[in-house]
Amino acid sequence: MKRLAIVLAAGQGKRMKSKLYKVLHPVCGKPMVGHVLDTVNKVGCDRKVVVVGHGAEAVRSYLGTTAEFVLQEQQLGTGHAVKQAKELLGSENGTTVVICGDTPLVTPETLEALFALHEEQGAAVTVLTASMDEPHGYGRVIRDEQGRVKRIVEQKDCSPEENLVKEINTGTYCFDNAKLFDALDKVTNQNAQQEYYLTDCLGILVSQGEKAAAYMTSDGAESIGVNDRVALSQAEAFMRARIVRQHMLNGVTIIDPGATYIGADVEIGADTVIYPGSILSGRTKIGEDCKIGPQTEIDNSIIHDGAAVKHSVLSQAEVGSGTTVGPFAYLRPGAVLGEDVKVGDFVEIKNATLGNGSKVSHLSYIGDAKVGKNVNIGCGAITVNYDGYNKSITEIEDDAFIGSNVNLIAPVKVGKGAYVVAGSTITQSVSDNDLAIARQRQENKAGYADKIRARAKAKKQKQDSENK
Ligand code: UD1
Ligand code: CA
Repeated sequence: MKRLAIVLAAGQGKRMKSKLYKVLHPVCGKPMVGHVLDTVNKVGCDRKVVVVGHGAEAVRSYLGTTAEFVLQEQQLGTGHAVKQAKELLGSENGTTVVICGDTPLVTPETLEALFALHEEQGAAVTVLTASMDEPHGYGRVIRDEQGRVKRIVEQKDCSPEENLVKEINTGTYCFDNAKLFDALDKVTNQNAQQEYYLTDCLGILVSQGEKAAAYMTSDGAESIGVNDRVALSQAEAFMRARIVRQHMLNGVTIIDPGATYIGADVEIGADTVIYPGSILSGRTKIGEDCKIGPQTEIDNSIIHDGAAVKHSVLSQAEVGSGTTVGPFAYLRPGAVLGEDVKVGDFVEIKNATLGNGSKVSHLSYIGDAKVGKNVNIGCGAITVNYDGYNKSITEIEDDAFIGSNVNLIAPVKVGKGAYVVAGSTITQSVSDNDLAIARQRQENKAGYADKIRARAKAKKQKQDSENK
């Protein structure tokens, strides 16, 4: 049977009190509607229609070509929203899953179970429900004496008895496609919110003698519908725990799961150890046998097998296998480190490649540079890449040695095996195997220290007596 999906994402999300449209709020670094689309994709839907309204352009541009879109110009309720998909899906035959863009924790496994029950029961509609100790704000699932699902009542329309019901509507359903659109034609807005409720379809179908079923998830987290920032933080916590757990099951050691933050799209290889305070985000990819953290942020970066990164911040960087980074290093976009490289403390690297075996051990800035293999960059050496208007390139070839506290005024090149003496300010390129020295020659003045001291002491005494 054909599987179709309708994702509701047109609401403004007033309760978020945000400039960002609700479904674009990230949970573990990914917009909520992105999580929902991922889930729908994993169960293999033939067509996916996203209903957009508030922030339509932003939602569309985020999702791109991964779905079809339909515009709900006025947000008159969830039933009205689904109805907008009629033109696209009305003539299809199959099972349609309707899911809200603000329920990021629904899993593909649960969706699969919902489909299975729906088909097995031959139901016209099957709703995903959950039992909640504090059901406030959610629609309640009302059953008859035999326990059959009768209808869903919104919180604001509940009688005192209905208010006590703990089984809630998660906002995810399977519908027989044709029956869904038939029922939607009968939905009115005569209710407390004067909205066209999708939930009314259930009661309508039951009153027509159709079968309604319910699948109750045992994972309460799945039912979180994010309407405000409190729920957003709860969703974040559940999602985070889920992601971290999956990495542990995949063979990653996570020393303190509660103090580890891993984005939804991060990949980590087996036998890697993640220390507390690590924040891994974006499309970061970490290999096997790495050591990451403590206190490390890695965003959209690639870390190859056996690398170690501690107390550092990395963004759009690449770290070769066996390479060590930190403590207290900052790798900015375009930093590409080869194998067995060492980047030590208080080193910043931006838009620069470092060849295998090279070392920048302390207190350096390397920006807009090409550094070859087995280069040693001494403590405090920097590339001077910016004149206030232009960025220029520094090239350092294989086996070169850059002494401590060297300034390399770009554009400049240091040839293979060349030697730049400590304290030099290099403005002209250095040829292969040459030695460059660009600093003033030292002069020692015998016994001069005593003279200087005596002069300084006299000055101080004079000042003190004047101030009396
Ligand atoms: C809805 C359900 C409620 C359920 C809860 C689960 C209805 C009437 N109520 O309530 O039973 O317990 O979800 O989280 O369906 N949307 C549109 N267009 C609209 C209105 C809403 O696209 O005109 C979208 C929103 O962007 C959101 C989703 O539909 O993604 C749900 O809307 P929301 O207003 O959050 O419904 P709830 O009050 O949470
Ligand atoms: Ca909601």
